[in-house]
Amino acid sequence: MFTPPVGNAALFHRRGLMAPVNADREVGDGRTVKHPSPFAPRFFADSATRADVEPLLRAGIIDGLTTNPTLLKKAGADSWSRAKDIMRELCALFRPHPVSLELTALDEEGMVRQSAELAALGDNAIIKVPVGGYRAVNPEADPYTGLKVIRRLWEQGIRVNTTLVFNTAQALWAANAGAVYVSPFLGRLADYAYSHDDPRRSPGNSLYWAEDRAKSTGTEAMHNTAYVATGGPVKDAGARLIFEIATVFANYRITTEILAASIRNPVQMMDCLVAGADILTVPAGVLGTVADHPLSDEGMKAFAKDAQAFTR
Ligand code: E4P
Repeated sequence: MFTPPVGNAALFHRRGLMAPVNADREVGDGRTVKHPSPFAPRFFADSATRADVEPLLRAGIIDGLTTNPTLLKKAGADSWSRAKDIMRELCALFRPHPVSLELTALDEEGMVRQSAELAALGDNAIIKVPVGGYRAVNPEADPYTGLKVIRRLWEQGIRVNTTLVFNTAQALWAANAGAVYVSPFLGRLADYAYSHDDPRRSPGNSLYWAEDRAKSTGTEAMHNTAYVATGGPVKDAGARLIFEIATVFANYRITTEILAASIRNPVQMMDCLVAGADILTVPAGVLGTVADHPLSDEGMKAFAKDAQAFTR
């Protein structure tokens, strides 16, 4: 389990700045029941497959959905028009809960145009904008394309989820540009380090900037590196990133929500919460694994058996 390096008083204070997510309820006769967890974190499903997410929505476990082109392809989208049909259907299913729909256009004007097209699919649509990576697909591209688009969408009142966040500056810039969510990718950070680390050096060495790597002897303390995700166990790399973003957001009263993404297992889910994430988007399969526990199974069997004595 991830252990934050300092106490979480700042994170606790930040929760109080956020809008309550669980409302009190009128129960008749002028009585109101207070909800016991008004500032609880929320869970979204990370999927574009209706059959996987509908039972979770009906169970009240999730309050939103995130999709991406890979998930849409998995759900059967083989054309833009089919992808839009799937996204429209998911927006209708989840209404009024938010559904993140990712842009596929890569240039500023095209992205702004496509945002209007996606926003028209449902009044709960959130436009998912990659924060960076533009030069990876087109070396001529403006590296700040995503941030420019986020600002323009904010000016138009369109809500944005900033995706592919791997460092705190990206998260902060996106928040300043007007994003309502930032999505740090937990699992991919750890996956990368596990498969690229030089085993003779300290954990997380592959996450160094190249120049740090060149200087590193592999024995020095890593907390001074340019990359927050190094400096501790690889398995905690994503949680350290979330903790840093949450701390910076708390310091500066930023209410952009931290939507922890790319979650692989239940331990990472809990790490995100300890680190200060506001929302977790989790694959349906991973959410399914926490509904039961071997000891819950055993306990239920024993209770059900003993209850037969007085249910006849
Ligand atoms: C987030 O919104 C993304 O859809 C997602 O979490 C990506 O996760 P992956 O690393 O499992 O592809």
